[in-house]
Amino acid sequence: MNGVSGRMGYRQHLVRSILAIRDAGGVELPDGTKVQVEPLLVGRSEAKLAELAAKHGIEHYTTDLDAALADDRWHIYADFLVTKARAAAIKKAIAAGKAIYTEKPTAESFDEALELARLATAAGIKNGVVHDKLYLPGLIKLRRLIDSGFFGRILSVRGEFGYWVFEGDWHPSQRPSWNYRAEDGGGIVVDMFPHWNYVLENLFGRVESVYARAVTEIPERVDEAGEAYAATADDAAYGIFELAGGITAQINSSWTTRVNRDELVEFQVDGTHGSAVVGLFGCKIQPRNATPKPVWNPDLRNEIDFDSTWVEVPDTEESVNGFRAQWEEFIRHVIANTEHRYDFLAGARGMLLAEKGLESHRTGARIDLPEISADRVPDTAEGAEAGEPARTER
Ligand SMILES: NC(=O)c1ccc[n+]([C@@H]2O[C@H](COP(=O)([O-])OP(=O)(O)OC[C@H]3O[C@@H](n4cnc5c(N)ncnc54)[C@H](O)[C@@H]3O)[C@@H](O)[C@H]2O)c1
Repeated sequence: MNGVSGRMGYRQHLVRSILAIRDAGGVELPDGTKVQVEPLLVGRSEAKLAELAAKHGIEHYTTDLDAALADDRWHIYADFLVTKARAAAIKKAIAAGKAIYTEKPTAESFDEALELARLATAAGIKNGVVHDKLYLPGLIKLRRLIDSGFFGRILSVRGEFGYWVFEGDWHPSQRPSWNYRAEDGGGIVVDMFPHWNYVLENLFGRVESVYARAVTEIPERVDEAGEAYAATADDAAYGIFELAGGITAQINSSWTTRVNRDELVEFQVDGTHGSAVVGLFGCKIQPRNATPKPVWNPDLRNEIDFDSTWVEVPDTEESVNGFRAQWEEFIRHVIANTEHRYDFLAGARGMLLAEKGLESHRTGARIDLPEISADRVPDTAEGAEAGEPARTER
């Protein structure tokens, strides 16, 4: 587990996933047996690793990634490093023949993300990318609504993601400062568009085009050491995505907005037969037969209590931390060959959407996205852009 001292590496991947799995006696395999996990913490600071290991009763830690990769006892390389450091480490893990599970984005550019997908395929190693939002209770309920035909024909999706991230001057920031420096791999487009790509393609349809505006609303912030720095990366992005099947999605992503909704991310889905509003946990619906009939009249105060016209979808099963749920799926994939669809190629598609979103912002144009699947892999982003016939690769 490389980068385990970081925000995501520690909280979500080590504590909430791997240690929780270890405490539960391992991951259940399809044949009913269990496979146990044993973490090896990898990082740059021996002192930090020793502290974490002691705190959580972990036997193994090292600052020597190469030695760890050369050691046959360890089967899966997992990467939670800052984005900038990821691709180089993953390439080493591919060369060492490890199965690989990683945070998103997989690389800093589409070409590099695609290269990782190619190298992993050529090496025949199992590979997975975090798709955590798909495992959120609210989005699981949404998937059920879609699969059950609740919406009729889906027309549009509107997403609101964001909250105020403190600038770091009068109040410490709640996110690492590298997120706000483009030169260090920061930016909300690179951070969030990979999420939106997998949410949209797995629930509604492939993203066929993007129009985006990416802005830096707060040009100067204060870092962890109390030093002012130039915020060179976008901290808000407004995107319109056209999906296969004619659905329009628009998603606002912002670290410079104050929350006036129930959850930090919310999606409203409107269909001919019903609508839904889902968040991390919640999901409320309004079927067409219970749709109120508002009439626009600026002279009269509206009498409908719109909130009360929605029905909350109840929790019908125990919710599991999404990161842990995906980890378990990936471990079953590695050990028992079960399905895990969210591979490096899916990661590359996420990076392509981020890159094309930024290109749309620069040029002011709506940008089409080529289809990229195991059967259709262009050589480079340029090849994809020019619509070159895709190579077949399996
Ligand atoms: N899935 C999600 O919802 C989600 C949310 C936030 C972040 N992320 C992703 O997780 C990754 C980590 O983000 P974070 O917020 O935990 O960041 P962080 O800054 O808290 O942690 C980064 C880790 O990388 C290590 N590191 C930093 N520079 C390094 C270098 N040059 N070489 C080797 N190691 C280095 C740090 O020591 C730390 O362990 C990012 O790629 C980010 O995009 C995903």
